Amino acid sequence: MIATARRRVPTARPAPSPEMVEVVRRGLTATPRALPPWLFYDARGSALFEDITRLPEYYLTRAEREIFATQGGAILDAAAPDPRTAIVELGAGTASKTRLLLGEQLRRHGAARYVPIDVSASALAIATAELAAELPTLEVEPWASSTEAAMPRLAAMAGPKAVLFIGSSIGNYDHPEAIALLRGVRDAVAAGDTLVLGTDLRKDPAVMVPAYDDRRGVTAAFNLNLLARLNRELDADFDLARFRHVAVWNAARSRIEMHLESVVEQRVHVGALELVVEFAAGERLHTESSVKYDLGLVDEIVGAAGFGRIATFTDGGGRFAVHVARAR
Ligand code: AVJ
Repeated sequence: MIATARRRVPTARPAPSPEMVEVVRRGLTATPRALPPWLFYDARGSALFEDITRLPEYYLTRAEREIFATQGGAILDAAAPDPRTAIVELGAGTASKTRLLLGEQLRRHGAARYVPIDVSASALAIATAELAAELPTLEVEPWASSTEAAMPRLAAMAGPKAVLFIGSSIGNYDHPEAIALLRGVRDAVAAGDTLVLGTDLRKDPAVMVPAYDDRRGVTAAFNLNLLARLNRELDADFDLARFRHVAVWNAARSRIEMHLESVVEQRVHVGALELVVEFAAGERLHTESSVKYDLGLVDEIVGAAGFGRIATFTDGGGRFAVHVARAR
């Protein structure tokens, strides 16, 4: 059967980025089909993620905030013993948790320097405005950039550094990618500089799975918004009622996986790619992995990247961990 591309009607649709076009084409034609999780974060997806962080089932954000609130001083003792240490954050977003650490650093030394790095200029503008109001003496130098693109600039920055990569963001990377990312950081800092890494901890799947499959269906909406985004930005015709959110624990790879499962056999068109995709009933599109760590796995990745772990802080419930590692 010959599939014909739908007639292209001129619209006000902005041209999608070449990077998005490329990853979607590759991901939708791969076996098994998979799309990278950074595609979740359009304006609607970012708002849905904020909602997720407030869900009763999603313990990660609250547990990590508790660690910063109750052990911020000890984290700084390990990560930034030198008062001149610049606190650099990868994927800073609106910096709502880091604020606790920055406030503590200011109380200790009367001055502190914060370099939030994020691809979202709007998130950085919010972070900068809120920090100026809350911590007026803090020196803030926002960099609107991807982590990868920020590395040469980080390497050129003088003075001691503590590089934060928190929020379980590392969980989205598989093992070799996680090592490569941390290796990039290691290459951009000096021996003695530190990494502050936030990881979710492996635990009973009965606790982990609901964090990614909440009762109110917010995570389902977050996952399905990816298809809505492809409809909006790539002129696709995904019927969201014919895909179902699935969250599963993959024990062999120590990760929660999110998929979108085709409920029926169906054909989807992606206008901007002139692509037709056939889904079998029950076929899954993999949208995210969230690796759950234990200390052995943390030591493996930070060690392979040229860091040595010197301290680990956990919340009262033992659910989440913030590690400090020193560049060797
Ligand atoms: C932002 C990557 C840490 O994996 O827990 C939340 C994203 N996905 N619910 C995570 C997410 C589904 C989140 N990270």
